[in-house]
Formats: sequence, structure tokens, C-alpha cells
Amino acid sequence: MLAALLLPRLLRAPRALIVPFGLSAESGITYLVREGLIDETRVLRQFPHPSGGNGHRVAFFARDRDQLIAAVAAWRQPAPTDGRTCIDVAFAGDVEALIALDVPLTSEAYQAAVVRESVAAGRCYVARSSRRAVAYVTWDLAFFNRPFVRLLAVGRQHRRLGLGAALIARVEEAAAAYGELFVSTEQINAPMRALLASRGYAPSGSVDNVNAPGNPELFFHKRLDGGTSAAPA
Ligand SMILES: CC(C)(COP(=O)(O)OP(=O)(O)OC[C@H]1O[C@@H](n2cnc3c(N)ncnc32)[C@H](O)[C@@H]1OP(=O)(O)O)[C@@H](O)C(=O)NCCC(=O)NCCS
Repeated sequence: MLAALLLPRLLRAPRALIVPFGLSAESGITYLVREGLIDETRVLRQFPHPSGGNGHRVAFFARDRDQLIAAVAAWRQPAPTDGRTCIDVAFAGDVEALIALDVPLTSEAYQAAVVRESVAAGRCYVARSSRRAVAYVTWDLAFFNRPFVRLLAVGRQHRRLGLGAALIARVEEAAAAYGELFVSTEQINAPMRALLASRGYAPSGSVDNVNAPGNPELFFHKRLDGGTSAAPA
């Protein structure tokens, strides 16, 4: 119910602050945050229900006021990267621009399907420069029910600005509750391998017969719970 009915509505207003009224509403939102579907920074917790029968909670409001102000301030500050670029959860209106981004990844139909699916599920982050989508990342649990980066694409004009790293960092935040994140890339993709090394990803095996002969798909793993990834056998 929460993911099927509430989530699409919340994603239609990706910049809106979510103010759950009361403990039950808050526990529903907490579930969506824990599943990595909603950004914690969008949620204003502990806001007392403004019902007339709730007068005793005015004291709670007074007690938590500074904390509420700090939470609103955090929500108003999208993560800056190069000063003009910000990263947001992608919404339906972004889909065509993301698909049109000139980054050949794999088959166009597959790329479009993954983008649509991920945006609908709230698992796509977009980097915008001057309000234009210039890079994105998608993730899901389709890989052995583990958090896995499906697509990462940075427009050619916007590479080496830290966007790829910032988008992966954003997925790491979203996947933190799972304690780990997997990513894969072709062996010949030196920029992606360098990016993953710079973010502390460990090799986690390879698969032949996915790409052209001699170019295996390499898998990488990062523990997000402070642990160390096991070395490939
Ligand atoms: C791979 C890709 C996502 C990197 O994105 P990016 O925004 O340019 O990467 P960043 O600027 O965040 O780079 C972070 C670090 O990765 C490494 N890196 C990134 N591109 C590199 C390159 N071309 N050569 C060497 N190192 C590179 C560097 O260590 C870099 O840190 P530095 O700039 O401080 O030296 C981008 O080149 C891309 O979209 N390529 C095509 C699609 C693709 O290959 N996607 C990944 C497949 S899963």
C-alpha cells in the first residue's frame, strides 16, 4: 500500500517536505526511508499533529523547535557538487531527458526501461545543472535481492566534475540500511574502475560471456556498515 499508493504521490512532488502527522503516519514514512525510496532529508519528524485535541503537544513543539528548524534547513539545501549542480530524486518529468542523455551504456531499449522503472520506484537520482538533467544513476534489488547500481551515466560535457562520484555516494546513502552496495562495469571501462577504486570498492569477481570476448563484466562491492568485503575466491 505504502509503496504502491503513497510513494508515487510523494515522488510527483520531489522537492516537497514531508510532514507526517502523528506516530502512525511517521512509521509509514520511516518504512519508505528504510527501503531507500524516500530521502530522509525530505522528512520533518516529530511535528505534533495540529488537531484541537492535541493541545498538550504544544510543549513538545516548544521542546523540539530547534531540531525542527535544523531539519527544514537541511531539506532546503540540495547536495551541491560543482556549485551550480544539485542532485535530486528523479521524477516522471525527468524520464525523457535522462533517456536522451548521450551516454551509450547498453541497448537503448534496456536503458529506457530501467530508467522508467527506477524513476517510478524512486530509485533514480538525477544531477541537474542550471535545471537541466546532466547525469543520473539508478539502483535496485534485482541482483540477488542486494542493492545494485544498474546504470550510471554522466553527460560528456559534465565528466570529471565529481558528478559520478556524487551520484554513487547518494546511492550509498539510500542503500545504507542494507549495509552494502554492488556495482559492475566492463573490464575495458577504465574511468568507471578508477571511480570505484576512489570510493573504496573492492573487486568481487567477474562474469564472462556478458560482453565481447576478452571483456568480462567486473563486479565490485562496498560494505556500508564499516565492515570489509571478502576477497574473491
Ligand atoms: C564513468 C563515469 C560515470 C565517471 O563519471 P564522472 O562524473 O566523470 O566521474 P567523477 O568526476 O565523479 O570522477 C571521480 C573519480 O573517478 C576517477 N575517474 C573518473 N573518470 C576518469 C577518467 N576518465 N580517467 C581516470 N580516472 C577517472 C578519478 O579518480 C576521479 O577523481 P578525480 O577527478 O578527483 O581524479 C563517466 O565517465 C560515464 O558516464 N561514462 C559512460 C557511462 C559509464 O561508463 N557508466 C558506468 C558503467 S556502470
